[in-house]
Amino acid sequence: MAQNVFGIDIGTSNIKIYNRNLETIMNEKNMIAIQNKTQVLAVGDEAYEMYEKTPDSICVSYPVKFGVIADIKNMQILFENMIKKSRTAKFAYQNADFCFAVPTDITEVEKRAFYELAESSKVHAKKITVVEKPVADGVGVGIQVDSPKGNMIVNFGADTTEISVISLGGIVISHLMQTGGNRLDENICSLVRKQYNLIIGMKTAEQLKKKLGDAVEAAEETMKVYGRDLVTGLPVVREIQAETVYQATHDVLANIITDIKMILERTPPELAADIIDTGIFLTGGSALFRNFDKLVRQETELKINIPPKPDECVVCGISKIVTEPEYMELAYLPREKVIN
Ligand SMILES: Nc1ncnc2c1ncn2[C@@H]1O[C@H](COP(=O)(O)OP(=O)(O)OP(=O)(O)O)[C@@H](O)[C@H]1O
Ligand SMILES: [Mg+2]
Repeated sequence: MAQNVFGIDIGTSNIKIYNRNLETIMNEKNMIAIQNKTQVLAVGDEAYEMYEKTPDSICVSYPVKFGVIADIKNMQILFENMIKKSRTAKFAYQNADFCFAVPTDITEVEKRAFYELAESSKVHAKKITVVEKPVADGVGVGIQVDSPKGNMIVNFGADTTEISVISLGGIVISHLMQTGGNRLDENICSLVRKQYNLIIGMKTAEQLKKKLGDAVEAAEETMKVYGRDLVTGLPVVREIQAETVYQATHDVLANIITDIKMILERTPPELAADIIDTGIFLTGGSALFRNFDKLVRQETELKINIPPKPDECVVCGISKIVTEPEYMELAYLPREKVIN
């Protein structure tokens, strides 16, 4: 059996791992549950099940904030456990190659934190490579990234929105916004609290966003949610109007569009002409926000393309980069790049 390769996209909300030997993509919550400060209780989706439901002795957290690793110790434990989970007894994970997608618009120290995860003794990585996230995203959506043609990719994730223009296998412009789906959920929590005197959790806010959210106009729909009444302190059920979700999310979406326009203005004219031709590629899980593509199209007058699984676009790109020879040179050895 050929030596295994893992392709990894560590997001704020989800961790996606490609296993070349098994030809699988694992997509789980990037969460860890720790009991009594030391004992690992659960990782991934299992930890998410416990989120907002635990006693004080159990701490459930996301180790990545705004696209960078904020809690290195817990991220290391989570990473090792997820890699173990993504292999079978037949396919070992030790001495495998690892390829990490890293955001572009962050510091070298923050980038290093990603690939150093695979340098731990438990994983025994043979070779570690890095690929810029927008490049992997481009390969994932099926763009010929190494052609001299400009392409704009907007990855609308959980804590970040990365707007990039790529050409000739490299990044011409990249702008990382510290906003994404989590900001939408937070705003929904606050407005529901204000308008309905109701305290809801982030999971409920996310459900409201997925069911009632619309970027263009508020639907006539409503959704029943459980929460705690701010005045009486008692658990109650309330019917939330789509209008509330629309009001809570509108400004965040408008800010993203303002930044997309700013990057379009900064794009060299020849590349801008290519973007007019092919349009904008929307990726990241939040690209699924209802009618966001329509809003971007209305505001920019450009064609919008969304791939079938926008949240897995980066890891799908890495899977091609580590398996298809024509893409392999898009991944580089991080230390070499730093020294150069
Ligand atoms: N149908 C949907 N409508 C709106 N938002 C959605 C939908 N499905 C998923 N999302 C949102 O997508 C986000 C997760 O996307 P993704 O997995 O791309 O994020 P991430 O890679 O973990 O984050 P980041 O890239 O910002 O670090 C969450 O905020 C989730 O609520
Ligand atoms: Mg992401």
